[in-house]
Amino acid sequence: MSTKKDNFTAKDKKFMKLALDLARARKGLTGDNPSVGCVIVKKGEIISIGQTGYGGRPHAEHNAISNCFEDPKDSKMYITLEPCNHYGKTPPCTKNIIKNQIREVYYPIEDIDLKVKGKSSLILENSNIKAKKGLLKKEALNLYNSYYINRKKKLPYVIGKIALSKNKIIYSDTTKRITNEMSDKLTHYLRFKSDGILITSKTLNIDNPKLNCRLEGYTKLSPKRIILDKNLKINLKSYIVKSIKNKNTIIFYNSNNKTKKNFLTKKGAILIKQSTHGHKNFDLKIILKKLYMKGIKNLLVEGGDQLTKSFLQKVMFNEFYMFKSSKNLLKGNKYVNFTSLDILNTKYNRHKINFKLATDRITIYKN
Ligand SMILES: NC(=O)c1ccc[n+]([C@@H]2O[C@H](COP(=O)([O-])OP(=O)(O)OC[C@H]3O[C@@H](n4cnc5c(N)ncnc54)[C@H](OP(=O)(O)O)[C@@H]3O)[C@@H](O)[C@H]2O)c1
Repeated sequence: MSTKKDNFTAKDKKFMKLALDLARARKGLTGDNPSVGCVIVKKGEIISIGQTGYGGRPHAEHNAISNCFEDPKDSKMYITLEPCNHYGKTPPCTKNIIKNQIREVYYPIEDIDLKVKGKSSLILENSNIKAKKGLLKKEALNLYNSYYINRKKKLPYVIGKIALSKNKIIYSDTTKRITNEMSDKLTHYLRFKSDGILITSKTLNIDNPKLNCRLEGYTKLSPKRIILDKNLKINLKSYIVKSIKNKNTIIFYNSNNKTKKNFLTKKGAILIKQSTHGHKNFDLKIILKKLYMKGIKNLLVEGGDQLTKSFLQKVMFNEFYMFKSSKNLLKGNKYVNFTSLDILNTKYNRHKINFKLATDRITIYKN
């Protein structure tokens, strides 16, 4: 039965929801291509599901058709994005759909890619396949927010993250741990979903972080490490320097320290000389543009107070995760306060999601 607002049935919505969940699960892991989910249904029963492959290929439709445990002839296909209709690195998905005689194809939105946009319904209908657009459009637009930012603005989708104590401290030399193990897991999940993770050499030298994804089995999918290091102050004995390999580290610098430059280049780091154009710091927009060109589509910023503030002030985070512990932190000899709560509450107050992870409170601010 369809609802009054649109012509889609509750079952259509259920299948598309599943396809959206499949796409969401692979989000951030499909390189240049959007993460797509696909569900194939015959006589009301699911006969296959598919997701875009890691790195972007094969496409979800191809995977779903290959996984079918029944002939997909006369089935309905639910895809989270308009299927591709041109020859790229793989043949068009529309061709595969036509070849397999699928009867109806549902997708919420057209692709933003101009090579594809709006052409698939015509191609399918010319082969007597019904193409139905608009099913769960709002949910799909939400899912493809980052893809749209990548393609339209040629910028990475940027997520910021900070952990603070009840008394708003982000660092104290009295203790290393601020938030709990469940919050750590969520942080590692964010790392898993990112192509790059950005910090300053100041934080690197104080914390000596690993910056990898430590979810069991997923360390291989750790993001690239990106360091803002104007004066090449990076500690050469740090974990990050010791673990440079396969171009996994990008350092933005503006210094003539040849010895350090040569050492880091020899280790295999990608060094990018970046002028500050007469300002104190790098222009973060330029940094983001350069990172996008280096293939960073999803960036996680785990800044200290100053770097986080710079991103927040310029409203450059698409999402910001605040992990707040229920405990106060002792101030010790050295400590750093989080000083951007006002900015968050004024510039990022449109969409807020709040939840608890045991004793920690997580607030996600969406721009
Ligand atoms: N709890 C958490 O979630 C968390 C996360 C990360 C770090 N931390 C803690 O935060 C503390 C550091 O915070 P912080 O505010 O002092 O430092 P920070 O934000 O990590 O780094 C600030 C420094 O980085 C440089 N910098 C900042 N923006 C830059 C830009 N656009 N271009 C080039 N360089 C830029 C500047 O260096 P110059 O001074 O040389 O100009 C600046 O002093 C550490 O103790 C660390 O443990 C906590």
